[in-house]
Amino acid sequence: MTVWVLQTGLLYYWFTDRAVVGFNAILLLAGLQLLITAAAGITVKMLRTRARLLGVPRGGDGAALLFFIVGGIGSVTTLGISALVAFVAFLAAGMAHGRSLRVRGRPVTADVHRSMEWAKGSRPNAAALDAATRDALTELWLHDAKGEHASVPAFSQVAWDLAALGAPPNLLARAHKSALDEIDHAQRCFALASEYAGHPLGPAAMADLNTGMRKRPRNRERALIAVARETLLDGAFLESYSAELARAGLEDATDPAVREVLARIAQDESEHAELAWDILVFCIDAGGAPVARALHETAMAIGELPPAPYRREQLGLVALADPRALCAHGRVGLEKWAPIYAGCRKAILGRLEGLLGTRHNGASLTGERQDSCSANTLGPAST
Ligand SMILES: [Fe+2]
Ligand SMILES: [Fe+2]
Repeated sequence: MTVWVLQTGLLYYWFTDRAVVGFNAILLLAGLQLLITAAAGITVKMLRTRARLLGVPRGGDGAALLFFIVGGIGSVTTLGISALVAFVAFLAAGMAHGRSLRVRGRPVTADVHRSMEWAKGSRPNAAALDAATRDALTELWLHDAKGEHASVPAFSQVAWDLAALGAPPNLLARAHKSALDEIDHAQRCFALASEYAGHPLGPAAMADLNTGMRKRPRNRERALIAVARETLLDGAFLESYSAELARAGLEDATDPAVREVLARIAQDESEHAELAWDILVFCIDAGGAPVARALHETAMAIGELPPAPYRREQLGLVALADPRALCAHGRVGLEKWAPIYAGCRKAILGRLEGLLGTRHNGASLTGERQDSCSANTLGPAST
């Protein structure tokens, strides 16, 4: 019972957005619960057997069995809920036109402070906007700016992974170029947010990065699987999704500075997604069937529903703002997110199926390219 109470508390902690640490603790507790249940069941069974051998009248076997079943169901249910919540949160970490950055499994971005260093780029015309709309645009473009900024060290980690796996120079060079693209995106987004806010804004230091370098398994096959799984979700899927969201924003945006930013982001994010597909080809070629199986499992676990576009407090700001002005300044209407997500998910699953099918038939995957999410269903790709 105590373990269940702790699990509930940790699930609440998780839902309130603060922790893969919480998720890991839930898994540990669920495992502990399973062990306690099994140990209790075995102990009761041994005591009953001993009592029977000593000629003591039997009784209570039903209660022991019930305890065992209820405990087992509780453990498995907790594990299932934890996995589901973890996956949803995993996707939610990737929504800001860039590659998501995690430290010890937790998505992180920098805090924002006043800074002249990062707000570099074209400025939007915010003069005619009311205060509520400016507040919403400041918050939403800062949301994107922080995500873009976090993508810079995220791509540094990608380059680190590729070097660790012995990837060819072409992939390493593109990973580093992607990090430079994300610096450009971050500067442009901070420039937009700064204009809406009326003062310059930029990212603060990220102390988490001093101690939080991600660790991969030392075993090569397991490392390839870990990198491939993450590349499929964070790169091939979420960066395609980011590119499509940028294109959707571009459709209704009228402010010239905003259009310039979105056009650049849409093109670069499509290229980052293509890099991800080429990393997947490398991983499959290097790791073979175990990597292909892991990718298939990962793809099957991609949910049909998109993650929430914004946090609750951001939605509150959106509700007070002028919706037409939000669209004119590049923000995608909430009703568009789900269809874009569904189209991207379908395209990604189809492309992966083709990739794995080719691998299964024994042909080399290296150098073969199929249509991306963008090219398949959602507009022009830009590789
Ligand atoms: Fe990106
Ligand atoms: Fe980006």
